[in-house]
Formats: sequence, C-alpha cells, structure tokens
Amino acid sequence: MNLKKDPCYNVTLFRTFLYHDISVLYMGKKSGGYDISRGSYNPDLMPQGFEKELERLRLQATYFWSKERKKLEYFGLKDGMRVLEIGMGPGYVTEQLLKDYPNLEIVGIDINSRFVDLAKKRFKHDPRVTFVEGSVYSMPFEKEEFDFVYVRLVFQHLKEPLDALNEIYRVLRKKGKLVVLDIDEELLGIIDPDYMNWRKYNNQVSKTQSKRGGDRRVGRKLIALFKEAGFRNVELEAILAHSDELGIENFLAQAWNEEDIDWAIKNSVISKEEGEKQKALYRLFLATPHKIIITLVFVCGGEKPLYHNPLINK
Ligand SMILES: C[S@@+](CC[C@H](N)C(=O)[O-])C[C@H]1O[C@@H](n2cnc3c(N)ncnc32)[C@H](O)[C@@H]1O
Repeated sequence: MNLKKDPCYNVTLFRTFLYHDISVLYMGKKSGGYDISRGSYNPDLMPQGFEKELERLRLQATYFWSKERKKLEYFGLKDGMRVLEIGMGPGYVTEQLLKDYPNLEIVGIDINSRFVDLAKKRFKHDPRVTFVEGSVYSMPFEKEEFDFVYVRLVFQHLKEPLDALNEIYRVLRKKGKLVVLDIDEELLGIIDPDYMNWRKYNNQVSKTQSKRGGDRRVGRKLIALFKEAGFRNVELEAILAHSDELGIENFLAQAWNEEDIDWAIKNSVISKEEGEKQKALYRLFLATPHKIIITLVFVCGGEKPLYHNPLINK
C-alpha cells in the first residue's frame, strides 16, 4: 500500500464541528420533557424522520449478520427453540433469525407501538412470530416460558439494566440462554482518516444519551450485571466489522454522510460555510484509497442455572 498517494496522507485529524452539538443528528433535538422511563431511544424524534431511521436500522441489522449469527450459535441458539426478542423494533433481526433458523418460534416485545404495528404488518401471515407491545421491565409472560432471549442494541438505552435482567431471568427457562449485543463508547470504532471528528461526535451522542437515562458504556458492565442477576457461565465476546470486508457504504449510512451535512445546514446546526468545508472533507475521505471504518460490538451470553441458589441468586 502506498500511503503517500493518498490525498489524506498528511491529515491525521480533521478538526471540524468542535463547537456544535451535532448529537442532534442521532438523537433528535428535543431535550426538555423527555420521558426517561421509555429509554433513551425514540425513533419518533429522529431528526431526519422515521423512514430514514427504518433504513438505518435495516442496514444495522443486516451488514454484519453472518458474524452475529455465529455468535448466537456459539451461545447456544438452535433451530426449533422458543425465542424472546426484546426491543425487536420493526423486526429486521427477527427476519434474519428466521432465514437461518426457519423453525424458531419467536415472540418480540417492544415499547414502541409504531414499531410493534410495523412488525405485525411485516409478518402478517407468519405463524412463527408474535409481537407484543410492552416494556422489558414488566413483561406479560409466564415464568420460564423461553429457551433463548436475545436483546440487541437495547441495553444502552435502559436506565435500570439490572431490573431488566431480573425480569428476563424470570421468563427464561432453567438452562435457558440470554444474549445481549451492545456497545461501549470507548471501543465503538475507528474512522481513518477521521473526516468527521468521530470522538467528538461520539462524546456528544453519549452525553445526550445519558441525559435521557441511557448508557453508552454499558458494554463493560454486562458481565457484572449478568452475574448480579443470577446468570451463570457468563462470557463476553465481540464482533468486529470493517469496511474493507463489508463495503464502505454500509458504514457510511451509520456515520456522517453528505445527506446528513445538507440536513445540518438546512436546520442551522452548522453554517453553510462549515457544511461546505465538511463536504469537501467527506469527499476527500471517499477519495482516500486506504480509508477504513471499523466497528466493534460486545456480545454477552449467560445461562439461567438449573438450581436456584439463594446465597448467590436473589
Ligand atoms: C436501537 S433500537 C434496536 C432495534 C433492534 N433490536 C435492532 O437491533 O435493530 C432499540 C429498540 O429498543 C426498544 N426499547 C427501548 N426501551 C425499551 C424497553 N424498556 N422495553 C422494550 N423495548 C424497548 C426501542 O423501542 C427500539 O425498538
């Protein structure tokens, strides 16, 4: 690789957007009166609209699926199981699960009624799935109903993760498995060259998210939380996805692209002048042969023990 040929060879960090709260791009503008009990994620507040958010979720659910599927298998997912998917959103992951495990019986629960309606519509004639509106903190299920529980990109939005885990423990059968996929802000990824000042962007999103009761450092806490809730054989794994393998377009849809910049100019998040400068950097990034985007997500798995030990389990 001849790095000297790269237009960004001498640029280590593009210093842009240092003075703007660009987290609105991911979290929406509303700050006062936010209902923390419903989690820090709200697709209805997404600045670029619900449809664009659906597209982002769809991509996020598919682009590293082959790696994700292997992790689920490692943690014990088998065809024929009765699975609970918590916070399934519009059901994009549900769809992937059913493609690879056609005999699963999946129950999805989500706090957002729009997502539940959409998921119901998308799987209207599929007898393998049922969707329910409700919160992870108090689920309308009997105890020990499920063989496997999957919770993907939800824990970072929860104010009370331990309460959620206690409730999951209740509905999981003995020897049943729980898998949580989520992030930690400090190991979230790399953009090189860093055309969008990624750390700054990430910090701002984290701040807004914690104001809404979320926690983008939940990744590092998962092992302790699982153990505290009584899960055993707890293991923490990770999935690393990068643009060289999976295509830069998948990653750019989650990062900062030209459409986002136009939106930010139009909505006075940044000035037109800054926006144009940022667009130039974005194009420079695209023209850089050695450009790479790397993402890391945590996958934590645990088992509900066969015997309840009151000294260990509450
Ligand atoms: C970032 S989305 C992830 C959607 C999906 N799991 C995926 O990976 O594409 C977070 C989801 O969690 C749901 N959620 C947030 N808080 C919840 C709660 N307390 N109970 C159930 N679902 C919740 C949201 O409505 C949303 O659908």
